[in-house]
Amino acid sequence: MEIRPIKLKDLVKVRELEILCIREYFDKEINNKWDELPAEWKENLGASNPRSYRTYLDGGLSFVAVEDDEIMGFIFAQIIHHVQNVENLLWVENMGVHPYFRRNGIGYKLLRAAVDEGKKQGATVARSAMGKDNLRSIMLHKKMGFFMDRRETALLDMNDLNKKKC
Ligand SMILES: CC(C)(COP(=O)(O)OP(=O)(O)OC[C@H]1O[C@@H](n2cnc3c(N)ncnc32)[C@H](O)[C@@H]1OP(=O)(O)O)[C@@H](O)C(=O)NCCC(=O)NCCS
Repeated sequence: MEIRPIKLKDLVKVRELEILCIREYFDKEINNKWDELPAEWKENLGASNPRSYRTYLDGGLSFVAVEDDEIMGFIFAQIIHHVQNVENLLWVENMGVHPYFRRNGIGYKLLRAAVDEGKKQGATVARSAMGKDNLRSIMLHKKMGFFMDRRETALLDMNDLNKKKC
């Protein structure tokens, strides 16, 4: 098994795997009504969506785990400059390992690759997005030395701004 930077040729398979991982999480929340969700909304999910993937391909911080041309796992990360008093923050947007290959150390190796490369590119802090009930992901990050500070993030859709009146 090899961990290497993601390439354009990986994208279709990585997209399938990312959606599979997202569905795993969402299906519980939406009572398996995935097929009824709007196609446009689903298309925008994940870091491999058609509008985001180029950022991750070009940044050199996103990796795949591959063996025999099979994509076993992926991680999407990028560096964000000047945020939360940090000059260069490594932001891990999403990662996943195919259920068949889990608990073989692949997730750890992917995260390690992103963190090592982030450090090389000047990041001093890493932050990772995950659901607060995602035990597997929390345990993986803790194993690498991440800590959970219970920080909440408030989100504003700027497209909605002009619709709000006070
Ligand atoms: C989270 C995920 C990426 C872990 O990948 P993985 O290849 O199975 O993880 P690893 O085998 O490298 O495990 C590394 C460590 O993570 C923790 N871990 C992983 N899976 C775990 C589980 N099911 N229960 C508890 N701890 C777990 C353990 O500490 C493990 O170390 P150990 O095997 O020495 O105990 C994988 O479960 C996954 O794809 N989940 C669905 C998508 C997802 O939740 N992505 C994260 C969004 S940030």
